[in-house]
Amino acid sequence: MKKSIAVLTAALLSVAMISGCGSEEESSSSSAASAEGSSSAASTAEELGPVMEDIKSTGTLVMLTNATFPPFEYTSGTEVAGVDVDIAGEIAKDLSEVLGVEVTLQVSDGDFDSIVPSLESGKGHVALAGMTVTEERQQQVDFSEPYISSSQYIIQPEGSNLQTMADLAGKRIGAQLGTTGDILISDEIASGSLAGTGATISQYKSALEAGMDLANGRLDAVVIDQYPAAAIASQMEGLKVSDASISDSESYAVAVAKGNEDLLEAINATIDRLNEEGKISEFMTNHSTTAAEEAPAGESDTAEEAPAGESAVEEAAA
Ligand code: ARG
Repeated sequence: MKKSIAVLTAALLSVAMISGCGSEEESSSSSAASAEGSSSAASTAEELGPVMEDIKSTGTLVMLTNATFPPFEYTSGTEVAGVDVDIAGEIAKDLSEVLGVEVTLQVSDGDFDSIVPSLESGKGHVALAGMTVTEERQQQVDFSEPYISSSQYIIQPEGSNLQTMADLAGKRIGAQLGTTGDILISDEIASGSLAGTGATISQYKSALEAGMDLANGRLDAVVIDQYPAAAIASQMEGLKVSDASISDSESYAVAVAKGNEDLLEAINATIDRLNEEGKISEFMTNHSTTAAEEAPAGESDTAEEAPAGESAVEEAAA
């Protein structure tokens, strides 16, 4: 199908960009560990950070996400699947080795805008949610190296021709609450190029729901990240994506609570390994087709299975 190929090509290009600008070699995890105690086979002889300690003692890596964002996370039956789940599985695998105990991955699906607070309050160990590194979020959590680059696109009815920010003047725009797409459009409406044009923003708990309102004619446009835009448009009748992006480039990274250098180091080592092995491109390829087939979000029969769909949060307190 035409659309899948487009998604795929874009995805592969973008992964190549990220791995191309690969990081400097990080020193290995055991550098400071040998001051005195002779220690065990696992290279983490010294004290673990709080989150590492918890992962070790529970043998579980809890990943926070919001599974309404194909191909990165989406529900497939009762499971959450996607590129981010695969990456987290690899992180868990590598952590098993680093910690010398078997670590299993557990996915915790919640609202996108609760992920950062949940990380801060220890409700999960890592967040993988196609989450863009932003300065504001960096005040609250730490990020790994980036693993995907993306930017914002406009989903719209097939008959529309919305290609730029200026084209959104006066339009009814939807976005997922708390995402960079929401922030971008809300800022433009409050004090940027969309101010005074009559453009409005409706903020949804789930991007899929915003897509449905677009398909139903309640919105003129949905602003969302590149690959989810392509996935949602290909899943719903009568929708397409703008030809170009309307934002600066964004980088996705894994987030962890502040003060967990050892965990970040392990995560970065996994990301490096996955890039070297071409795995992230492979995950993108797998889920770009699977997500489109398995999550026909426009169809009612999956609605019962998809807990993510609550009602839209219209016009959150401006
Ligand atoms: N990249 C955007 C952001 O970080 C959107 C992420 C939405 N992710 C999700 N799993 N719903 O704000």
